[in-house]
Amino acid sequence: MNAVKIKENIYWVGGIDWNLRNFHGYLTQRGSTYNAFLIIDEKITLIDTVKHYLADEMFERISKVIDPSKIDYIVCNHVEMDHSGALPKVLEYCPNATIITSQVGADNLKLHYETENWKIQAIKKTETINIGKRNLNFVVTPMVHWPDNMITYCPEEEILFSNDGFGQHIASFERFDDEFPLNILMEENAKYYANIVLPYGESVKKELEIAKTLKISIICPSHGIIWRKNIDLAIQTYEKWANNFTENKALIIYDTMWGSTESIAKALYKAFEIKNIAVELLNLQFNHISDIMTKVLTAKYICIGSPTLNNEIMPSVSGFLTYLKGLAPKDRIGLAFGSYGWSMASINKIENILKDECKFTMLNSIKHKYVPKENDLKRIENIIFE
Ligand code: FEO
Repeated sequence: MNAVKIKENIYWVGGIDWNLRNFHGYLTQRGSTYNAFLIIDEKITLIDTVKHYLADEMFERISKVIDPSKIDYIVCNHVEMDHSGALPKVLEYCPNATIITSQVGADNLKLHYETENWKIQAIKKTETINIGKRNLNFVVTPMVHWPDNMITYCPEEEILFSNDGFGQHIASFERFDDEFPLNILMEENAKYYANIVLPYGESVKKELEIAKTLKISIICPSHGIIWRKNIDLAIQTYEKWANNFTENKALIIYDTMWGSTESIAKALYKAFEIKNIAVELLNLQFNHISDIMTKVLTAKYICIGSPTLNNEIMPSVSGFLTYLKGLAPKDRIGLAFGSYGWSMASINKIENILKDECKFTMLNSIKHKYVPKENDLKRIENIIFE
């Protein structure tokens, strides 16, 4: 397996996880990569590593360029194990290498690995090291999306090594955005933001402010495709998402027991249609929660429905609500709906979660005892926007 040249003496040497389908609950139907980058200079520098089980693949690629034992610096932009998992093995090959990471990164490495013999240099906030013809500027950027995060910028090459920022879960032979279908890249970019980065919009804004001060020709994220053609698009899109931009679009997300909640969902669909608001029906039995989150990223209206099951929300819906709460989309309009038999517990619980925990502005809830008739469904069109 080969290293891929990015610029003279700079190579992609990462690992491709073709079979990855689950990234802590996120459906990664296109697999992923863990991107590591090798800079050949007076001090040979490896930026980030790969998941532990792809260490040999990374070494094979590095070995096509240099003897891995010659690595002087290993930059650890982020301790999460998809990027640091191969560190123990890397340090077996190059025991004299110094790890450069943030102060929190240094602390967290000690909480993940046996680091007694590791040489770790901690970056406080911003710092530059010279590696020969090039400099590497390190900027600590906490909570994009762990407290240890750091980005690395090489001014001579105008390359930003952005770690998880601008990443996408895509396994591909192609490495660059001018080689890969842009629509798929942007879809996976959105899915990554919605499922990983969304709660940290304020931190993203700070990182974007830093990025705007830099001349950037290439963005090397730690997952997926490298940006070298569509950099402005990548940055502008992140800006929109970090500022909670939404479209006039409604999502009707639900599960159903005997079809009554689904009937209400369809009536709601018509209600939004009449108002000329784009709308999608998303039954949780057929849509993965991480795919729904990609749609939530830009949807203004989030309607959630469940029948009452044993005085509770159906588990498929409560699972989605837990996921939604954690990812914390902001400035949305919510609506709770569902049918019930003798207790309307599920609708009340959904309403409370959307209103009190998600802080959504609420439309009128739709609650219907047993099976809604034609006239009941027609009335829904008028109820929700009252
Ligand atoms: Fe790709 Fe936060 O790890």
